Amino acid sequence: MLRALFREIVLIDSNHELAAAEAADLSDANALARPAKICAGTYEDAASARIALITAGAATHGKETRISVAAKSADVMRRCVDELMAGGFDGIIVVAANPVDLMTLIALRRSGLPPSNVMGTGTLLDTSRLRQKLSTQMQVAPGSIDALVLGEHGDSEVIAFSTLRIGGLSLGQFAPADEPNHYEVASSVRNAAYEIVGGKGYTSFGIATAVVRICEAIVRDEHSVLPVSVLVSGQFGMKGICLSLPCVVGADGVERILLPALERDEIEALRASAAILRTADSELNQEQGTPAKELE
Ligand SMILES: NC(=O)c1ccc[n+]([C@@H]2O[C@H](COP(=O)([O-])OP(=O)(O)OC[C@H]3O[C@@H](n4cnc5c(N)ncnc54)[C@H](O)[C@@H]3O)[C@@H](O)[C@H]2O)c1
Repeated sequence: MLRALFREIVLIDSNHELAAAEAADLSDANALARPAKICAGTYEDAASARIALITAGAATHGKETRISVAAKSADVMRRCVDELMAGGFDGIIVVAANPVDLMTLIALRRSGLPPSNVMGTGTLLDTSRLRQKLSTQMQVAPGSIDALVLGEHGDSEVIAFSTLRIGGLSLGQFAPADEPNHYEVASSVRNAAYEIVGGKGYTSFGIATAVVRICEAIVRDEHSVLPVSVLVSGQFGMKGICLSLPCVVGADGVERILLPALERDEIEALRASAAILRTADSELNQEQGTPAKELE
């Protein structure tokens, strides 16, 4: 609504009263923003939607990792996707529910939509956190920092420091005397969500803005490069899982997956992140007793 992206926004929640209250609260801002029809609805209303954003999932509390709530979220995700597809939806699914990479894979398998039409918010939020963190340390606008966090949106995520550029300069070239410590930057980005959840119980504004940025790239057919969670099919030797790589995002969803020129240790870390997701996916399928369809 704030960015005038959609004429209609339908909120679906198993707690219909909550969805109705949120819709009413949001609609209160209409006259002061860019008016859109916002209401609580059903999956039938979603059938003709261009984008279905799935945020329903188990929330993490305190120090719980995202992967530890996978089974609970998976159950919710399967139900949401089944109901969405039963209505005849054939747009683009964007997943925010955690653990987002595993939930994106479930949405992809369950929906039967092409891989380009299903993506997760992935490490777009972590990348935004990284740019903001470096921005305050180095006194340069976050938008001027070209940076990437890749892999799992979670504890095994990988910051591709070798690809980071500010005005064409590497981090060391930009700040030769006081280059930020990579380990400290990485751990502060990785732990940012835990700290916010510790203070307010959940995260909302950062992830909402990441979601909107993805929707904007789709609706405006921008062909913007964003790190989102997608099905990998051989990139860096990884396949059959979803994780974040830089992708060209436009009206057709994920139009291209890019392979940045990473250093050897970054590729190894990325593969290790993929291995963690693969193991978590297998455990999830064993727990649920559902052999997962292998996706190329
Ligand atoms: N990807 C990210 O970076 C990111 C950031 C923040 C939160 N999240 C994730 O988003 C998810 C939601 O977080 P939250 O803080 O909004 O949690 P929340 O508990 O406040 O909201 C979850 C909502 O889902 C609804 N719900 C549950 N089952 C449903 C179903 N089958 N159909 C429809 N609605 C259903 C619940 O009624 C509830 O309103 C969590 O998995 C959280 O980890 C992801």
